[in-house]
Amino acid sequence: MADISSLFSPYNMGKFNLSHRVVLAPMTRCRALKGIPNAAHVEYYAQRSTPGGFLITEGTSISPTSSGFPHVPGIYTDEQVEAWRSVVDAVHAKGSIIFCQLWHVGRASNPVYQPGGAAPISSTSKPISEKWRVLMPDGSHGVFSEPHALTTAEISEVVQHYRQSAINAIRAGFDGIEIHGAHGYLIDQFLKDAINDRTDEYGGSLENRCRFLMQVVEAVVSAIGAERLAVRISPAIDHMDAFDSDPLGLGLAVIEKLNKFQKEKGTKLAYLHVTQPRFTLLERTEAEREEDSVDLMQQWRRAYEGTLMCSGGFTRDSGMKAVAQGLADLVSFGRLFISNPDLVSKLKLNAPLTSYNRNTFYTSDPVIGYTDYPFLQKQTHAN
Ligand SMILES: Cc1cc2nc3c(=O)[nH]c(=O)nc-3n(C[C@H](O)[C@H](O)[C@H](O)COP(=O)(O)O)c2cc1C
Repeated sequence: MADISSLFSPYNMGKFNLSHRVVLAPMTRCRALKGIPNAAHVEYYAQRSTPGGFLITEGTSISPTSSGFPHVPGIYTDEQVEAWRSVVDAVHAKGSIIFCQLWHVGRASNPVYQPGGAAPISSTSKPISEKWRVLMPDGSHGVFSEPHALTTAEISEVVQHYRQSAINAIRAGFDGIEIHGAHGYLIDQFLKDAINDRTDEYGGSLENRCRFLMQVVEAVVSAIGAERLAVRISPAIDHMDAFDSDPLGLGLAVIEKLNKFQKEKGTKLAYLHVTQPRFTLLERTEAEREEDSVDLMQQWRRAYEGTLMCSGGFTRDSGMKAVAQGLADLVSFGRLFISNPDLVSKLKLNAPLTSYNRNTFYTSDPVIGYTDYPFLQKQTHAN
């Protein structure tokens, strides 16, 4: 009988040999004062490293216009690159592989985060509705402001920022980069038909709405190679008004383009990371939502010719099931990894998990809610 894969079976992801499938999901934690990673980041990422494990950093700004949260790290200055090197070295010393998530929030920002207090940029000039709030530097919640819709020439500049940041990430020692194309941020603002109202070659048809993402992919691959690049998408997630009238079709369109791109290059991307739709189909019952979610994921899984990573609400059981059933090759864990630095061994042992405190997700203290969650066995970490 063939072995059934589990969260704890090894996985070969192109040039990277992983010893298990439990991945640290990218998570903004707002601890990088002045946009520069520090000793707290070294500790946080090292705590979550395991031999042959795979980590993805928090969303990392590609340029001065990219941020919409307090204290987000960047990767566009030499000082930031040097600071990230200490994080990467500590993670590598523990045997893990680490990708940097490249992030531009687009319109999910406020002039307080923009150079010279300018308007944030987007595919559109429509602001995010008042249903959503931006976290301000003083911890209060403000409104998202009206964005400036990028001109064609400005889009090319942003593509170059992704390319340069990818080069910088490799210079800092990262094993690769993940392009954040999900959750209502800049790339998703081009992908989703409820946001993108352009009439040029970046709007309208699926072909056009995917153009910006594919130009970023092309530019980054030309600089660092396909096997060091991953893409994250969330076709069925409506965070920050990022609705699409056909999430299945949008996901399949992106996948078809990535498949074609991989064929043309003769090399696969590192992986495609998809956020589970589970939480957003609100008018459905929980069982129906679960069914819808699995159905979408199955169709995307069948279509994508490469490594697929899933994220969103996974537990030990559902993660094991997803891998065993072939729904995902890798599963990324977010909130549980915040409160369980040794999540991998706890899941392996089926040990009880520490619950997370939402109140400290986005606070700037370098220790509280960041590196002070307990390990199952203190000595494991001290080793
Ligand atoms: C505090 C916090 C910050 C997050 N920041 C990011 C981010 O920077 N980039 C990203 O792609 N996803 C981000 N996410 C989404 C996570 O990567 C993950 O998909 C989500 O938490 C669902 O997984 P979970 O149920 O295991 O937590 C964030 C989630 C949380 C809770």
